[in-house]
Amino acid sequence: MTPFKTVSEEEVQRINRLQQNSFDKIYKLFEPPLPEDVPKRLEKIVAHGRITRGDTVLDVGSGTGILIPIIKKYRPGCIHACDLSEEMLKQLRTNYPDVKAIMADVRDISLPEGSIDAAFINACYPNIVDKAGAFSNLSRMMKAKRRIVISHPMGKSFIRSLKEVVSFPLDDFPEKTEAGALLKPFGFEIDTFIDEPEIYILVATRTLFEKNH
Ligand SMILES: C[S@@+](CC[C@H](N)C(=O)[O-])C[C@H]1O[C@@H](n2cnc3c(N)ncnc32)[C@H](O)[C@@H]1O
Repeated sequence: MTPFKTVSEEEVQRINRLQQNSFDKIYKLFEPPLPEDVPKRLEKIVAHGRITRGDTVLDVGSGTGILIPIIKKYRPGCIHACDLSEEMLKQLRTNYPDVKAIMADVRDISLPEGSIDAAFINACYPNIVDKAGAFSNLSRMMKAKRRIVISHPMGKSFIRSLKEVVSFPLDDFPEKTEAGALLKPFGFEIDTFIDEPEIYILVATRTLFEKNH
């Protein structure tokens, strides 16, 4: 049993389509220049992934790729980016032709089992409709003991203000105890939890044990 709320397949596809249409129109908003201090906070977020040279990295809901230049500083071997929006990924491919862009819901991507060293979900956790599907697939793709960084560079209250203006539902970022309970069945344990007014960072590591989902 998943602790995430259950959403029907029709609803997942309906909301994903709304998001595609919406982000296809506003993709330019995700390009620099970014609000003051955000670049510094993004550096902090990426540092939590503990990327080492040669690693395989996945950026979930990558948008146009604001994390990519920071990820590259750590000299990974390969960067995958996945997103629902075609226009977001078109811009990402223009900005970073060497990144492997995949247009799909993260729950559906088919990177090999145990192939990912670090995964980032920046400003995208609230958007993922089928969270059970997403974390089940991430659990499959992650290497043991490696890290997923779930983050927002404007803090979790930013999502509350967005809810009033977007055409699709957004979930809240979880509190620490809730996050532990949500992710445990998928083989993740909480390593770091930072919930400050201007930044949210949740780092989960893939445990060595089999997931019980
Ligand atoms: C608010 S934007 C953030 C983009 C980027 N991470 C950034 O920080 O600029 C959220 C992105 O997540 C994507 N997204 C939403 N649900 C997704 C899913 N289930 N799988 C992959 N991408 C998703 C959307 O298409 C959108 O481009």
